[in-house]
Amino acid sequence: MKKLLVLLVLGLLAFAGLGIANLLIGTPTGTSLTRNAAQDPEFLKVALTLERACLNCHSAETRMPFYAAIPGAGHLIRHDIAVGRAYLDITADMNGGGGAPVSEVALAKTEWTVREGTMPPLQYVALHWDALLSAAEEDALMAWIADTRVRQFAPEGMAPELAGGVVRPLRASIPTDPARVALGERLYNDRRLSGDDTVSCATCHDLAKGGVDRLRFSKGVRDQIGPINAPTVFNAALQFAQFWDGRAATLEDQADGPPNNPLEMDSNWPQILGKLGQDQAFVEAFTAAYPEGLSKATITHAIAEFERTLLTPNAPFDRFLAGQADALDADQQAGWAHFAKRGCTMCHAGELLGGRSYEAVGRKADYFKDRGEPVTDADLGRFNVTKHEPDRFRQKVPTLRNIAQTAPYLHDGTANDLAAAVDMMAKYELGVTLQPGEGARIVRFLESLTGEYLGKAVQ
Ligand code: HEC
Ligand code: HEC
Ligand code: HEC
Repeated sequence: MKKLLVLLVLGLLAFAGLGIANLLIGTPTGTSLTRNAAQDPEFLKVALTLERACLNCHSAETRMPFYAAIPGAGHLIRHDIAVGRAYLDITADMNGGGGAPVSEVALAKTEWTVREGTMPPLQYVALHWDALLSAAEEDALMAWIADTRVRQFAPEGMAPELAGGVVRPLRASIPTDPARVALGERLYNDRRLSGDDTVSCATCHDLAKGGVDRLRFSKGVRDQIGPINAPTVFNAALQFAQFWDGRAATLEDQADGPPNNPLEMDSNWPQILGKLGQDQAFVEAFTAAYPEGLSKATITHAIAEFERTLLTPNAPFDRFLAGQADALDADQQAGWAHFAKRGCTMCHAGELLGGRSYEAVGRKADYFKDRGEPVTDADLGRFNVTKHEPDRFRQKVPTLRNIAQTAPYLHDGTANDLAAAVDMMAKYELGVTLQPGEGARIVRFLESLTGEYLGKAVQ
């Protein structure tokens, strides 16, 4: 009878739209968050706040209430927590103590939700006054987030006001070896990397076309069509992983992909090494820079070394961030303000405005149902790599650098222009309707992200 009553109350609450997790009794203490923070006084301050106010719904280390043992109730609570955790897992992604890496996107999300007052949820606070953050706690959290960005992500020597922001100017270079870069550039443009000598990396990643092919899906050897839109090679070196699903950890690993892909270059390393090995002049130049000679490892290294030079600093937005107020016009500045206020920065964070996390496509509405085309393997995204259910439909968040030059957009190439991509994001990633004019101003802001390659604006 008592059990029934508890279930009835829980059911009513769920019906009223109050998450069951609202009823969690007490807050977790002594979790891995505060254990790790023990060595780090700065992190300890915020870890205690996060543990008290957020961890109940954003961690596996939730303290379950007594009634969780009742069949049904525990299930409902766990479901609620699973929703929260799918959005942000604080113990996994923000465990800053003990030198563990923190996710730049988790910082951006936390900053945005706390600043905008959307977290902890109001219904939860109604039952848990103690979960409210005091102004001092909020300030400490914001200061720790900025400080973590300076220490962990920004290049050395960048002014702290710039380095501590949710986005920051793009660095101008990464250290490379010029002789190896030159070889990598030749290989990047070398069609002998494909089985029938018709396709090079540049075919699909044309540096005169924003580092892409501007097709919905790329064409490989014998005009074969691939399953997914080609991302840009510009600034790819600064991403946390390569490919939409992150299946390559490094540029070197990535460069092993296309030559072997039957739809792209349809070759293999023995064949490529055979062809290049017959080119005496090339072999000589190559062994001067790589004494160990031609191999899959040295070829992919050279290509990656070249890609590390494909950075595009000095966009109008970078100059604006660095203090040149007139680098953006009034509409672009308003667009940047909307972009930040709406929370686009939650995922498009850091110096690339992206490239740092995987996010579910269609978080707030069923994108794939509305798209009207059957779901493909490529749509499954990160799930293809991990086979982990919450990773289904997660794609790597693309960089927004040079975005005006790389249409069509999205992994499935369905957005033909920026206005369409921005509308898609508002509806499916944020669940908001933009005000008239807002989307257009965001597009104008995105146009300010076109940087320079070899001293000229990327086109
Ligand atoms: C009662 C459970 C609960 C508590 C407590 C809670 N959250 Fe959440 N949080 C959720 C749920 C559920 C979602 C996903 C749905 C939504 O946006 O409402 C979410 C979403 C989020 C998101 C993703 C927002 C987005 O739109 O991507 C962030 C970031 C977040 N929470 C941070 C926090 C922080 C920081 C705290 C503590 C200050 C906190 N939450 C406390 C339940 C909670
Ligand atoms: C036939 C067209 C084609 C060719 C040729 C090709 N690529 Fe790609 N490239 C793609 C597509 C499509 C993707 C996305 C595939 C995916 O994510 O599953 C991609 C992804 C990448 C990425 C990852 C970018 C990111 O944001 O994740 C890099 C880097 C890259 N290619 C470099 C190269 C290099 C180097 C070569 C030559 C060795 C090459 N590509 C050859 C089409 C091509
Ligand atoms: C929850 C994370 C998240 C938020 C919030 C978000 N995005 Fe995205 N964004 C993504 C992901 C993931 C993709 C790739 C989607 C796909 O390929 O289907 C993407 C793709 C894009 C693209 C296309 C990039 C390309 O190269 O194809 C643009 C433009 C974009 N977002 C702009 C925005 C704007 C503007 C906002 C705010 C209105 C926003 N995003 C909010 C995650 C997010």
